[in-house]
Amino acid sequence: MKTIGIIGVGNMGESIIKALLKKGVKKESIIFSEVKKERARAVKKNFGIKESGKLSELVSGADYIILAVKPQDSKTVLSEIAPFFDLSKIIITIMAGVTTSNILSAIGKPVKIVKAMPNICVKVGEGVIGITHNKTVKKEELKKVKDLFEPLGKIVEIGEELMDAMTALGASGPAFFLLFLEAMIDAGLKIGIPREKAKVISAQVVKGTLKMLEEEGIHPTVMRDMITSPGGTTISGIAVLEEKAFKGIVIEAIEKASKRAKELSL
Ligand SMILES: NC(=O)c1ccc[n+]([C@@H]2O[C@H](COP(=O)([O-])OP(=O)(O)OC[C@H]3O[C@@H](n4cnc5c(N)ncnc54)[C@H](OP(=O)(O)O)[C@@H]3O)[C@@H](O)[C@H]2O)c1
Repeated sequence: MKTIGIIGVGNMGESIIKALLKKGVKKESIIFSEVKKERARAVKKNFGIKESGKLSELVSGADYIILAVKPQDSKTVLSEIAPFFDLSKIIITIMAGVTTSNILSAIGKPVKIVKAMPNICVKVGEGVIGITHNKTVKKEELKKVKDLFEPLGKIVEIGEELMDAMTALGASGPAFFLLFLEAMIDAGLKIGIPREKAKVISAQVVKGTLKMLEEEGIHPTVMRDMITSPGGTTISGIAVLEEKAFKGIVIEAIEKASKRAKELSL
């Protein structure tokens, strides 16, 4: 069994640990390092995994090294761990805006890197994770990394040039969608449905719609046609959304988020 070392156990690091344990990875195969003492104690207590006091020890003892610190901490961490890398190890970075070439130049020698961009839904095993890698990572090695991340959600292989787009659509995506959900709940209130009931109805509309799309294997437009009858209620609502350029607004928002992701890149 390979050893997985996790540097930084915040929101994401913890979700990854949970998913790995759920997948059946033995706790003895996971080591972690976390600067916040209290947090480190909680991780040891909750998951029973071993803490590594020094990053050098963690890297030397692990086959996969997951970098889950904030992007602004990447330089410090990378310079500390650089001397302990060789081509037998794989770096898996989930840091937004830190490219494989940023990492390569910080390490200063050939190294295997997989870059993964998850979203917050990995917490419940229903995330979407964009994955890319540098040339030194072999096909079978990438497959093993994908297997590791599989319990976190759906994995989408994507070119590194599209990682900012992935950040906008996949990582920020839930926030855009939640705004729409909030609007539906408010709309329910406006037309007289009590708040809690409006919430239940709106959430079930979303859940059922996604389930039906998946089970029937149909495109959203096809499903929308099924509930849009001539002169009916749906087309009356859609006409308003089209008049206010709803799709155009969403496209513009996601494009803007993608540009911002590029601006924030190191
Ligand atoms: N949250 C998301 O939805 C999301 C989505 C996609 C990608 N990401 C990426 O995932 C990474 C982690 O995000 P997060 O939300 O989990 O951040 P987080 O909650 O801040 O977790 C990072 C943890 O690493 C610790 N840390 C900092 N320097 C360290 C070091 N040298 N050694 C060990 N631990 C160290 C931090 O401690 P301090 O706070 O004391 O520095 C913190 O507890 C980020 O790079 C982010 O870009 C996050």
